[in-house]
Amino acid sequence: MTQTFIIAIDGPAASGKGTLARKLATYFDFAHLDTGKLYRALGYLVLHHNGNPEDAEMVLPHVSTITPSMLNRPELIAQLADERVANAASHLASIPRVRQALLDFQRQFATTPPDDKKGAVLDGRDVGTIICPEAPVKLFIKADVTIRAERRYKELRERGQDPIYQEVLQELEIRDHRDRSRKIAPLRPANDSKVIDTSHFDADKVFQLSVAWVKRCLGKIQLQD
Ligand code: DC
Repeated sequence: MTQTFIIAIDGPAASGKGTLARKLATYFDFAHLDTGKLYRALGYLVLHHNGNPEDAEMVLPHVSTITPSMLNRPELIAQLADERVANAASHLASIPRVRQALLDFQRQFATTPPDDKKGAVLDGRDVGTIICPEAPVKLFIKADVTIRAERRYKELRERGQDPIYQEVLQELEIRDHRDRSRKIAPLRPANDSKVIDTSHFDADKVFQLSVAWVKRCLGKIQLQD
């Protein structure tokens, strides 16, 4: 059996890791899983049922209803982008039993990607540290929080919303703090991660740097150009 090539990408919200993951997956023809979507989908389901995202008993029953195809449903994607859903996701992501319940789904995707793809790109907070510590490529994408807030602010405006910059910044700071300080699987780079600070780079530059890094890690293995 040939082994899947895994690219693990971690980083805080609005660091550019999602855009990078999508671009790398397209470039290398690998499958892509935005692991944040799993937590967001749970957040959405719990809120939709008027549940409390900090209560494991209200979150866990929804785990088995999540499927890869469900995550790509257009009507759900719009809901998942909601900041209230992101906030609920960040809360339930600190519950150890919830993280444990999502582990298999993520590892299964990484080791047996859909459509017989030869590789998988997973992005999130703990892909390189917990989900796929064996991944040959680990990237940690970070950026100054004020720059991330500007990016998120712009993104929300482009979606037709009317956000307040200070609120966007504050939400990110709170979420960063929660993601970094939780006891289980806190956001941090794996020891063997390549850390890229995207504060002063555009998406293309980050992509070029990352492709060069992936190719270096791939070494002898031939990939499409
Ligand atoms: O990347 P995102 O903003 O879509 O993630 C939403 C929340 O989900 C984030 O605040 C923390 C949580 N999350 C996590 O704990 N572990 C992951 N691998 C991905 C996301």
